[in-house]
Amino acid sequence: MTKRKAVVIGCGAIGPIHAAAIVRSADAELYGVCDIVEARAATLAEQYQCRTFTAYEDVLADPAIDSVHICTPHYLHAEMAIHAARAGKHIVLEKPIALNLVEARTIKAVVKETGVACCTVLQNRLNPSVEKAKEWIAAGKLGNMLGIKGFLTWRRTAEYYHSEAWRGKWATEGGGLLINQALHMLDLMSYLGGEITATKGNIDTRVLQDCIEVEDTADATLYYKDGKTGLFFATNGHSQDSPFFIEMHMEKGIIRYMDNQLTVRTDSGSDLLATDEKTVLGKAYWGSGHALQIGSFYRSLAEGGCNYPGLEDAAASLGLLLAIYKSSKTRKKEQVETL
Ligand SMILES: NC(=O)c1ccc[n+]([C@@H]2O[C@H](COP(=O)([O-])OP(=O)(O)OC[C@H]3O[C@@H](n4cnc5c(N)ncnc54)[C@H](O)[C@@H]3O)[C@@H](O)[C@H]2O)c1
Repeated sequence: MTKRKAVVIGCGAIGPIHAAAIVRSADAELYGVCDIVEARAATLAEQYQCRTFTAYEDVLADPAIDSVHICTPHYLHAEMAIHAARAGKHIVLEKPIALNLVEARTIKAVVKETGVACCTVLQNRLNPSVEKAKEWIAAGKLGNMLGIKGFLTWRRTAEYYHSEAWRGKWATEGGGLLINQALHMLDLMSYLGGEITATKGNIDTRVLQDCIEVEDTADATLYYKDGKTGLFFATNGHSQDSPFFIEMHMEKGIIRYMDNQLTVRTDSGSDLLATDEKTVLGKAYWGSGHALQIGSFYRSLAEGGCNYPGLEDAAASLGLLLAIYKSSKTRKKEQVETL
């Protein structure tokens, strides 16, 4: 069977993780890599003996290419995804799918019109602990979920923000902590907890105020469709990148994700349900899901089906974080919009 020919666009921090994941997939091959900084593309191309591009328009114009992985700064996601779909290329789109829902809706319309497949990157959903938590919640053994809380305490320094000009600015990053780092936590809080219809929240810049114009800290109350509430706190101002903490209060016990382990506590004691590997590719706090998710996307293209997250899946956390930004300005509870 012919492997899909894939090109990674953007060879910064995450691009090489996509390249490694493509190479591991039995259904895809790394045809080339693209970056406006030629040396970055050349270094990655040399590692995998593939082609180098410096203009993404040249990638889209090459009829041999089946798919593109968009691993560029946030402000380029919508433009690149729309052009890729119009060129008939399948898409793997890094988070966030876009800077706002207007852009996201345009991507959705063009993807539908052109019939290409679009996989969004929500790799933490494939962590063994998250899969196990989902399974336990769905099985209903502990009854309904009564409440959920999620804490993310990471560290981003001035050096991190100064390393790339697009970071830390509303126009190019679309926000700070929420749209970049905490998006994963918000995705898990809706993936595990169910649909979130409204939120009341705050953003602030507490540690990095001398270097970024966007937020480094946020908190919010999340209002779920089934009536429960969720508590969310996140910051980029901690001393280290701690693992996610999520606790789900169920009618008959507590499901807790802490220190990369999922446990359940009931009246009869505490049990370990799953442990996540520290890391397979990239940084520990990225999780190990990129290779699994990208492999699953190419398997779906080869065999049919849609065993990967799409634009609607990614829109839940985007809609939620945009509602937190809005609520922080209006000081009111705001509805979460979807695609
Ligand atoms: N899923 C995750 O856990 C995860 C982790 C890290 C980053 N990301 C996402 O990946 C994306 C990239 O993040 P990063 O940290 O790798 O950023 P980065 O700045 O390290 O890399 C981006 C690369 O894109 C290149 N680029 C810029 N404009 C380009 C253009 N017009 N054509 C081709 N290349 C261009 C830059 O030169 C740079 O090498 C972001 O959307 C980020 O949110 C996701």
